[in-house]
Amino acid sequence: MSNTQPNRPGCDNILEMRDIRVEFSSGRGRSKRQIVALNGVDLSVPRGTILGLVGESGSGKSTLARVLTALESSFTGTMVFNGTHLPARRTKELRRQIQMVFQDPYSSLDPRMTVRQTLAELLSVHKIVERRDVNKRCRELMEQVQLPERALDTYPISMSGGQRQRVAIAKALALEPSLLVADEAVSALDVSVQAGIVNLMADLRDELGLSVLFIAHDLAVVRSLCENVVVMYHGNIVEAGTTETVFAEPRDGYTKTLLRSIPRIRY
Ligand SMILES: Nc1ncnc2c1ncn2[C@@H]1O[C@H](COP(=O)(O)OP(=O)(O)OP(=O)(O)O)[C@@H](O)[C@H]1O
Ligand SMILES: [Mg+2]
Repeated sequence: MSNTQPNRPGCDNILEMRDIRVEFSSGRGRSKRQIVALNGVDLSVPRGTILGLVGESGSGKSTLARVLTALESSFTGTMVFNGTHLPARRTKELRRQIQMVFQDPYSSLDPRMTVRQTLAELLSVHKIVERRDVNKRCRELMEQVQLPERALDTYPISMSGGQRQRVAIAKALALEPSLLVADEAVSALDVSVQAGIVNLMADLRDELGLSVLFIAHDLAVVRSLCENVVVMYHGNIVEAGTTETVFAEPRDGYTKTLLRSIPRIRY
């Protein structure tokens, strides 16, 4: 990944979030009330690892992802990314370095463009490679997401959900990020297809040294993929640690309940 910032010595975490707080107001007039979506969250992602983020619906996972990717700008707290303070107004370069993959690959792909057109546009707009190297880079991206080269000349409509999600990942990788945020990126896929995407995430970590924040509600997937795991409940982090420790010796009552609900699926 030529465009990625060099690893900084002494900076073991690619990301450190401190005391992140987000409030929303809902309703009008007398029924108006404040929702604390994130209640002072601290979270660190060790470089080159996958951090799993789990918690029930509405616990604040997507809000955290949106703060991190600058889609949500009303928050308090601080973030340090790759040893540098992340300012409220991100430079284009800082935005490039943190990329997001969403649950629904349909909405992140333009149906009128082939995969090659989509990727080529990104590579040109962000000046990632010289014009003459665009096709070569497109082929490399297909290889990275384990799609055949001929997929470059297809439209999203003719692809399966899993293939589309691979293209969505290729779009994120095209910008050569250091951190990938996957918000329920496998949740909409069939279980058999999920396993392929989960394995791809592991390969990207191992081969590119990519760091990933992996948001999921499937604890079996998190257990098989992530080095570390964080559990959220009502806007708070109630448990954080290595996946092994959290799954073997959960300290928090909510985590214990959550763990009891895991189906016994093995990947
Ligand atoms: N734009 C918004 N305006 C008002 N409330 C919001 C907004 N976005 C999120 N919320 C509220 O903030 C809380 C956290 O929502 P969030 O989407 O972060 O949860 P989540 O953990 O991602 O849930 P899910 O597992 O269902 O995706 C919820 O109570 C939600 O209703
Ligand atoms: Mg969500």
